[in-house]
Amino acid sequence: MSRYSKTIIYLYICILQLLTYVTPRKTCNETFCGKLRKSPEGYPRYNLDLSTLEVFGKVVLANLTSPDGSPTLFFQFKYISHSKIDVTIVDFILDVPIKSSRPSNRAVPIPLSSEVTNETVIVTSGSAKSIIYNNPFKIESYFNNKLISIINEKHRLVLQGNSSQGVAALDVTFQNVQQAYGIPLHADNLALRTTTDGFMDPYRLYHHNSGQYKLKSTEALHSSVPLLYVHGKNQSTGILLDSLSQMWVDITHRYNKIETYFMNEMPYIRVFIFTGPTITDAVVEGGRGGVPLYLPQYFTLGYHQSRHSYANENQVLNVIDKFNSDYLPLESVWLDINHTDSGKYFTWDPVRFPDPIKLQNQLAVENRSLVVTTGPHMKVEKGYFVHDEASARGFYVRNPNGSDYIGKCLPGDSSYLDFYNPELQNYYASLFLLETFKAKNLYVFLDWNEPTVLEAEQHENTLPSDLLHTNGQSFVSHGYIHNVYSSLHAMTAFLGYFSLERFPERPFIATHSHSFPDTNYGPVITGDNYASWEHLRISFPMCLSEALVNTNMCGANIGGFAGTPDEELYQRWYQAGAWLPFYRAHFAADVPPREPYLYPENVKARVRKAMYQRYAHLPVWYTLLWENIKTFQPIIRPLFYHYPQEEATFTIDQQLLLGDGILVAPVLESGVATVSVYLPGGDSELWYSIDDNYKVLRGTGYQLLHVNLDSVPVFYRAGRIIARKNIPRLTSAATVNDPYTLYICLNTTNEANGTLYVDDYKTLYYEVLNKFLYIGFSFIGNSLHTYKLREDADYDGAAPIGEIVILNPPQNVQNVQLNVENKVIDCFAKVAYSNEGKVLTLSNLSLVLQQPFKLTLI
Ligand SMILES: *[C@@H]1O[C@H](CO)[C@@H](O)[C@H](O)[C@H]1NC(C)=O
Ligand SMILES: *[C@@H]1O[C@H](CO)[C@@H](O)[C@H](O)[C@H]1NC(C)=O
Ligand SMILES: *[C@@H]1O[C@H](CO)[C@@H](O)[C@H](O)[C@H]1NC(C)=O
Ligand SMILES: *[C@@H]1O[C@H](CO)[C@@H](O)[C@H](O)[C@H]1NC(C)=O
Ligand SMILES: *[C@@H]1O[C@H](CO)[C@@H](O)[C@H](O)[C@H]1NC(C)=O
Ligand SMILES: *[C@@H]1O[C@H](CO)[C@@H](O)[C@H](O)[C@H]1NC(C)=O
Ligand SMILES: *[C@@H]1O[C@H](CO)[C@@H](O)[C@H](O)[C@H]1NC(C)=O
Ligand SMILES: *[C@@H]1O[C@H](CO)[C@@H](O)[C@H](O)[C@H]1NC(C)=O
Ligand SMILES: *[C@@H]1O[C@H](CO)[C@@H](O)[C@H](O)[C@H]1NC(C)=O
Ligand SMILES: *[C@@H]1O[C@H](CO)[C@@H](O)[C@H](O)[C@H]1NC(C)=O
Ligand SMILES: *[C@@H]1O[C@H](CO)[C@@H](O)[C@H](O)[C@H]1NC(C)=O
Repeated sequence: MSRYSKTIIYLYICILQLLTYVTPRKTCNETFCGKLRKSPEGYPRYNLDLSTLEVFGKVVLANLTSPDGSPTLFFQFKYISHSKIDVTIVDFILDVPIKSSRPSNRAVPIPLSSEVTNETVIVTSGSAKSIIYNNPFKIESYFNNKLISIINEKHRLVLQGNSSQGVAALDVTFQNVQQAYGIPLHADNLALRTTTDGFMDPYRLYHHNSGQYKLKSTEALHSSVPLLYVHGKNQSTGILLDSLSQMWVDITHRYNKIETYFMNEMPYIRVFIFTGPTITDAVVEGGRGGVPLYLPQYFTLGYHQSRHSYANENQVLNVIDKFNSDYLPLESVWLDINHTDSGKYFTWDPVRFPDPIKLQNQLAVENRSLVVTTGPHMKVEKGYFVHDEASARGFYVRNPNGSDYIGKCLPGDSSYLDFYNPELQNYYASLFLLETFKAKNLYVFLDWNEPTVLEAEQHENTLPSDLLHTNGQSFVSHGYIHNVYSSLHAMTAFLGYFSLERFPERPFIATHSHSFPDTNYGPVITGDNYASWEHLRISFPMCLSEALVNTNMCGANIGGFAGTPDEELYQRWYQAGAWLPFYRAHFAADVPPREPYLYPENVKARVRKAMYQRYAHLPVWYTLLWENIKTFQPIIRPLFYHYPQEEATFTIDQQLLLGDGILVAPVLESGVATVSVYLPGGDSELWYSIDDNYKVLRGTGYQLLHVNLDSVPVFYRAGRIIARKNIPRLTSAATVNDPYTLYICLNTTNEANGTLYVDDYKTLYYEVLNKFLYIGFSFIGNSLHTYKLREDADYDGAAPIGEIVILNPPQNVQNVQLNVENKVIDCFAKVAYSNEGKVLTLSNLSLVLQQPFKLTLI
């Protein structure tokens, strides 16, 4: 191809990027939702046909029939645990292809017993009981004799269609609850709103690319997770709709109960209900249904810089130099599709990136990485090796007439890889073995994998639902698996990384779009946001909502993707973004560059301080990540998660908890001199302001704080021990050998505890060889004790504790005594009080984590 035609292509790509494109969106009435949502008049009213009832030791089976002659449905009921119900309803003859590898299909039932009367089947298992009514069909579920949920209370069950097109809908009422959460991703409050007041559409779950998205909206964005929680002071319940396709969800708040209606573009119903009773129980059970994954590498938690797009290798190196010379930490530089040879993924532009391996090696010396975009949309061009292979082997999604579908996307005319096909999965995974991808520090961002089709307004800029996928044996229509296309993409890329000689290194795969159960293949973002205060604020509820469904690495483009932030917004975004799991700046091609080094020194200094605060807390983030992977507790948590009885917390979504020990309430408004921060827990709960000399505040609700541009209100909870690394560094790798500083935040009984997880930050040896330390800290009776929380694991590479800061310390401490294995060891601690005796610092320590010790204040 000539330089000339290449230029045309690049201009085309640029124009696409420059357009502030607005994706056309269908309303409920314009899709299957409109008909289902209408009043239930005329719905089939199902009865459970008692004559078909069969109860095996763990399963209840029966037919559901309708007097209006609708097809007979097949019903199945199981308990997966005493607090997890599994209900399936399918058309008896219709075989909708479902991927059998979904983890929900591995859910193993437990024994139940049943009692059949002429009107009901009563199923019990431990403290769980469900009453299945046969005429009309509905299911009441109880836990400890408390009514939790009613399935089909309003008789709005619908299930109809054929093997290529159909719908299902189900109403579920939840009792003893006041608020609903989850079903991300929407640019809305954390606490979901009533959608049935006549003015709004239901919350929509439909993957499509939504540049310039509306705020406070139920519209679908690029990701969707059909997992919803409801919560009240006495009860928390979760529900997972195991769907692969588009859904709409209506929410209605009633007095002490919430009514929901799930409408699914697939004639299949499988729901799991987690009956709590606490929010922790429900959320952990929800997370457990996801794909079990590995820890990300440490650098994932650091700061990442992206823009659309760094044009050549000199620009990449220049960015890194500038970060270095301004003492700004940085882990990776991201390259958009512009790095490729005229839009062909898995290639490099020969002029602008002539030696990608050399470039990667240059970055590797500094412990920096390169992250490049790759998409599912392959350029349709004879001679492009991926296209040649994919078209010859039937690896593309097809038109109904069997030809390869062609749509417009970043590469120009593109065909879309069919990740449903196992042979394509093997082929795609093998692409990650290409020479150019072998270097140690090249990672990928799976971009626009909803997938996006540009200039396809009639299909909301994604694939039409009547396209066909194949698994080699049979075909399935795209509509039936639309919402898991990106999941299959991410899974396939993940396989690619593991087929590399890179083992035992952990992969890094960021993905534009995600679903359930694949919430954790890699970092995710809240989309192409805008440089406005509203967009900064909405990033908190968006990522908290993701956190509740076990998406552990969510972030928003720092500073906004489109538009230009003023200096105040820019700084506030760096301050706030440092407290969301994924910390990356990214901006559009048509806005002035805005890397932090371009700003005046006062702005830069605040950005640097925010970044250093992030880096100081990396041990906390990493510990929480590991705990998340093992226990499914979210990393960031809404306040109500730990204060479930404190009603004022139910709707707070501009603050968050990092673990259970740090409360974050960044300034998210322009030009303010005071902010109102809610501190929970009551009079006896103390919070130490790390922004204000460890000043102690009580958890008595809203308090007015004075702030200036430097303020980032963050509080440590009394009773917790926080492990930090305080030496400023330019990468996460450079902090690895730095000593820890422990912050012991004493509570009213002069106690505190905490955990710390350490491994090599890079490899899978923690998982396969138990090479890690999981340490518990406990301060009680004037002594700090450490102990191994996992006796079966060990790791000898952990840095020592160099310093201990005790907040609200005992007075007149002169010295410390160190005991290791019951022997007194000299430790040469320097003991110093500050802040009028409110802070005690023990320094000049070198306490080894691997061996349990006891340090006593004397
Ligand atoms: C959707 O259609 C229903 C009737 O089918 C109508 O009552 C309702 O107003 C429509 N909603 C919108 C937002 O147009
Ligand atoms: C359930 O209904 C189907 C379809 O009408 C029928 O073939 C099947 O025999 C019924 N099941 C039982 C257990 O009667
Ligand atoms: C079920 O049995 C009870 C008595 O055991 C009777 O009162 C009731 O009418 C019966 N219901 C039906 C639907 O036959
Ligand atoms: C499935 O149903 C739709 C809508 O009723 C119809 O247009 C389509 O032809 C049917 N397809 C098959 C394979 O029966
Ligand atoms: C919670 O339970 C208590 C006792 O069971 C009851 O008095 C109270 O009304 C319940 N509160 C809510 C909000 O359901
Ligand atoms: C892509 O690269 C070309 C060639 O350097 C450059 O002119 C163009 O601005 C880049 N496009 C974007 C969107 O950065
Ligand atoms: C790179 O990281 C390693 C630890 O992983 C560290 O020893 C080394 O000093 C780092 N190099 C630089 C330039 O920071
Ligand atoms: C198949 O369908 C596509 C899309 O509608 C169309 O462009 C193409 O011409 C058709 N091919 C044949 C062989 O009919
Ligand atoms: C103080 O903290 C310890 C450790 O976290 C905890 O066990 C204890 O219950 C707390 N005391 C009070 C009064 O909250
Ligand atoms: C710390 O104390 C809390 C009670 O405040 C307790 O729930 C938690 O299990 C303790 N953690 C450790 C690691 O001992
Ligand atoms: C710091 O500790 C070392 C031993 O680790 C000791 O030699 C030195 O004297 C101590 N310094 C001070 C100022 O206490």
